[in-house]
This record gives sequence, C-alpha cells and structure tokens, in this order.
Amino acid sequence: MSRSAPGAAPESVVPDLTDLDLFVRGFPYDAFARLREQAPVWWHEPTAHTPAGEGFWVVSRYRDVVGAGGDTATFSSDGTAVRDGGGTLIEDLPAGLAPGHMLNMTDPPRHPKLRRLLHASVAPRVLARIEDDLRERAVRIVDAAVAKGECDFLLDVAAELPLQAVAQLLGVPQQDRHRLFEWATATLDYADRDLGEVTELSRRALSEMQDYGRALLERKRADPGDDLMSVAATATIDDEPLADLDQRMVFSLLLAAGSETTRNAIAGGMLAFAECTGIWEDLHADRTLLAPAVEEILRWTSPTPYNRRTATADVELAGVRIRAGEKVTLWWASANRDAAVFPDPDTFDIRRTPNPHVAFGRGPHFCLGSVLARMEIRVVLEALLDRVAGFEVVGPVERVRSNKHTGIRRLPMRLEPR
Ligand code: HEM
Repeated sequence: MSRSAPGAAPESVVPDLTDLDLFVRGFPYDAFARLREQAPVWWHEPTAHTPAGEGFWVVSRYRDVVGAGGDTATFSSDGTAVRDGGGTLIEDLPAGLAPGHMLNMTDPPRHPKLRRLLHASVAPRVLARIEDDLRERAVRIVDAAVAKGECDFLLDVAAELPLQAVAQLLGVPQQDRHRLFEWATATLDYADRDLGEVTELSRRALSEMQDYGRALLERKRADPGDDLMSVAATATIDDEPLADLDQRMVFSLLLAAGSETTRNAIAGGMLAFAECTGIWEDLHADRTLLAPAVEEILRWTSPTPYNRRTATADVELAGVRIRAGEKVTLWWASANRDAAVFPDPDTFDIRRTPNPHVAFGRGPHFCLGSVLARMEIRVVLEALLDRVAGFEVVGPVERVRSNKHTGIRRLPMRLEPR
C-alpha cells in the first residue's frame, strides 16, 4: 500500500534511506532536494534493509522539521506509550531500555526534570572555566599532527579534543579515553551490520562499555567529584535517586553524543576548507569570521542527519495524514539545505548570516552539548589557523556507513607548518 502524499516523489527517484551503503558515498542531498520539492512528508516503504519491515515518514522541509521537533506531545521521543518499542532511531528500541530512560528518548514530565539535572554541568558559565584548558589541549593536538607531516586528520586531530573533553566532563581518567572511543565507535558504527542488527563486535563493545559505566558510577557514589557522572550517581528527581539504568544511560548518551558528532563536524569542516580554495586564507586574515564559520560548518556537515519521533495521535503535517503509532523521521540535514531558509544552500559560505541551522535539533530536545561542541570546533580551528599554513588531502576519504551519523572515518592529510 502506498502512503505517499499527493504529488509524491516517485519511489524510483528517492533511494532506499535504510540502505547504509548509500551513505558511504556521502549524504544523499540530491534525493532530499527532490523530496522537499515534491513530497515534503513522504512515506518510505519498507525494503529488505528496513528494520522490522515497517515503513516510516520522512519529513524534509525546514518548516515541518522545526514544527514537529517542537511538538513533543504529538511527536514523542519515547514512543512506548503508543507502541511496543520506540526511541529516536528508525529501528525500535525495546520499552524499558533506552526509551523512557535515556534523556533524549524521554518525554515530559520526566524529560525536563532529567534535563535540568544535567544542564548545570554543561552551562555556558561552567564551560567558560574549561575553555583555556581546551585551547591548550587543541594546540598540543595540532602540534603533534603537524609534526607527523602526514596524518589521519580524523583520528589525530578531529576525534582527539572531543574525546578529551568528554572524558573530563564525565570524570573518566584521560588514559581510558581511547578504550571509550573504541566502544563508542563499535556500538554506533554500522560498518559490518545493517540497521537493527547486532554483531559480536558491537555486542562485546556494548557489554564492556556498560561494565565500565557501572564501575565508574560505583566510584563516583563513594567519592563524588564535580563531574557529570557524579551528578548522575548522587542526584535525585522528586526526592528519588536515579535508577541504576537511568544513571548508566547518562554515561552511554554522553559518551556517544559527545564523541561522535563533534569529530565529524571538525573533520567535515576541514574537508570543506580543503575543497573551497581561498576560504582558509580569508579566515586567517579576518578572525571575526570565526563565529559564522563555526555555524556554517555545523549547517554544512549536519553530523546528526535525523532523529525519529513516534506520532502519539492521528495528525496532519503539511497536508499529509499521519496515524498514531507511526514512525516519523525529522531530517535536520535536509532542513539545513532548504532554499526557503538558506539562500544558495549548497554553497559553503563562512560569511552566511543569519544562519538559523538545526544541526543541534530544535525544541525541548535541543542539543545539551551545543555550547561545548561550538567551543571545541572553535578552539581546534584557532589552533589550526595559528599553526597550519596550508593543507591537502593526500589519500581516499572514507565516510561513515550510517544514516544516523554523517561523518568521516579516515581523512589522510598533509599539514604544512606556518
Ligand atoms: C557537533 C556536535 C553535535 C551535534 C551535531 C549534536 C546534535 C544533536 C541533536 C540533533 C540533538 C537533538 C536530538 C533530538 O531532537 O532527538 C542533540 C541532543 C543532545 N545532545 Fe548533541 N550534538 C552535538 C554535540 C554534543 C555534545 C558535545 C554533547 C555532550 C557533551 C551532546 C549531548 C547531547 C544530549 C545530552 C542531547 C539530548 C538532549 C535532550 O534530549 O534534551 N551533544 N544533539
């Protein structure tokens, strides 16, 4: 049964958005341009790759993505009140695991209470205190990469600062950070599996990560510090301590959200600079362009391309009838290329203002780490501008095989010292 909207894009011109091989070739911006034009709320029929053989809605226009993102009553991030599984991925996660427990997969009244608890640790005035430390770390990271001559920019530069920052934020010893990186990569990566599938590698990584989180929480309970895991281990909501599961979910979410996305913004931004001659020199000559450049990198790379919601009631969106219980995907990456909001949307323009991108989402679930992520991108760029005169890509760029994270796995570069 076709559920497409009137004037819907013929299936033949929209590729299978659950076929992860598609994303290895880069995010399918062309297909989304056609969807925005012809079928802004489009029913994606299930294919051999689609989890549980169940279709889902694809929302691609800025206006509709922002509207649905702000309406948590109709578009639930938990979803388990109206179906067996839910969450913010196309594949259902079981009720009682992440949905209803992990901050980004909760709804009111739980969501604002949990969010308030964690917000204090990532508030701008708290982060201002670590900015100098992050800047020094960025300089050391860039110097080490420049000294190598040729490096994998993704591993040696882009991944390092977010990882060091998230270790500090969570209160994890810095020497453990590469183990965390491997676990996060193995659980988030679909390199060797399809949506909804578990492999030996991803299962083992998840179980080791959970064991590590459990032990860390025990240490924080016994000896709390001023980090986020100590908050999770000791805080209360409505006078009740957080359940064990909820505490561990804070660890998993922050590790995943804090490490994968920012590295992809930094690496994708650098690739954009490498591909657009002259812009790097412009930025070097005029540092007032740094702030708009960071925003444009976020819009351009959109490291989190989509988040799913579940319709809690029958609803009409852009003239299309969505039924209660159906999966609805909100494509931030597509909204960020909507010509109705961004003139010349397929041009990387570091002077773009205003730039109301939705790379961090929109509405009550707006990214909790946005201040930190912006700061990380900025200090890495500053260190690069100060120390790198020129750079070139010297080998094949490998992209992440995922429709949930748009990013780069390998970026061979030569960095010339300034
Ligand atoms: C460039 C980097 C980043 C991007 C593109 C990004 C993107 C996003 C997006 C799109 C959402 C909304 C999810 C939804 O509506 O379902 C989100 C939520 C969230 N992000 Fe980020 N993020 C980034 C960095 C970070 C960092 C560094 C942290 C933590 C240290 C973080 C922590 C979170 C958390 C905890 C949420 C859930 C908030 C809630 O549900 O209330 N993110 N992020």
